Amino acid sequence: MAIRIDGKVISGIIKDEVKAEVSALKEKGIDVTLAVIQVGEDPASTVYVGNKKKACAYTGIVSRAYNLPEDVSEEELLSLIRKLNDDSDVNGILVQLPLPKHISESRVIETISPKKDVDGFHIQSAGALLTGEKGFLPCTPAGIIELIKRTGVDITGKECVVIGRSNIVGKPMAVLLLRENGTVTICHSKTKDLRSVTKRADILVAAIGKPKFIDASYVKEGAVVIDVGIHRNENNKLCGDVDFESVEPVAYAITPVPGGVGPMTIAMLMKNCLEARKQQG
Ligand code: GUN
Repeated sequence: MAIRIDGKVISGIIKDEVKAEVSALKEKGIDVTLAVIQVGEDPASTVYVGNKKKACAYTGIVSRAYNLPEDVSEEELLSLIRKLNDDSDVNGILVQLPLPKHISESRVIETISPKKDVDGFHIQSAGALLTGEKGFLPCTPAGIIELIKRTGVDITGKECVVIGRSNIVGKPMAVLLLRENGTVTICHSKTKDLRSVTKRADILVAAIGKPKFIDASYVKEGAVVIDVGIHRNENNKLCGDVDFESVEPVAYAITPVPGGVGPMTIAMLMKNCLEARKQQG
């Protein structure tokens, strides 16, 4: 039986660490504030934003909600972001993605001040990650590193395979694993003979976007398997990119869905907000 990596427990520990620091700052009269912008009413985004607000309430971080209509112009959104950049009471700015098609996500992300880029999506944050400079780390990959380390697994020298090359997960994940001295391969939809690559992995990160795609035939005996996917199956139950029942018997450790990577993303966001406040002095 594989170790079930409990993202709920580990994220709870991180949120408690943040809560203690936020409370100590509060005693000195210092607030930590996150501005959360949602455009439109995509139901999944509403759930994610709601979970972020709940985590703020838990950790004592002040959350300011901005709900803009689906048809808001790009310029209106950018001008709100500029206003929040200039507002010294706001420490972090998060624009929930995806955005409606008429708005350029990259223009929106590049308008957020890198000092308040708690999602770690700004090109300056991405560049800092790549070159090893200080900057905000994207929350999902940073959370995955915490999950691996807090399971007692040393990444140094391990064969790490990441499936997926998005700017939010796949690419930063690969760089973070490299930073931890892993030997890293990135796979994607054009990879030839995916199975032969994933079978080499001591640490396998699946961010494919296809429900239950990875079964035991893709996994080396004793691997650590991290599942970034989140989908609803035919019975409306949540599942990931990994076929848990198939993979669990061959893995050394595995994250469940739900309760694996998801809660870590939010815990790392809280950590980034606290860090932003501390850096802003
Ligand atoms: N949409 C899906 N995941 C994320 C995330 O981590 N941050 C933001 N801003 N939007 C998302």
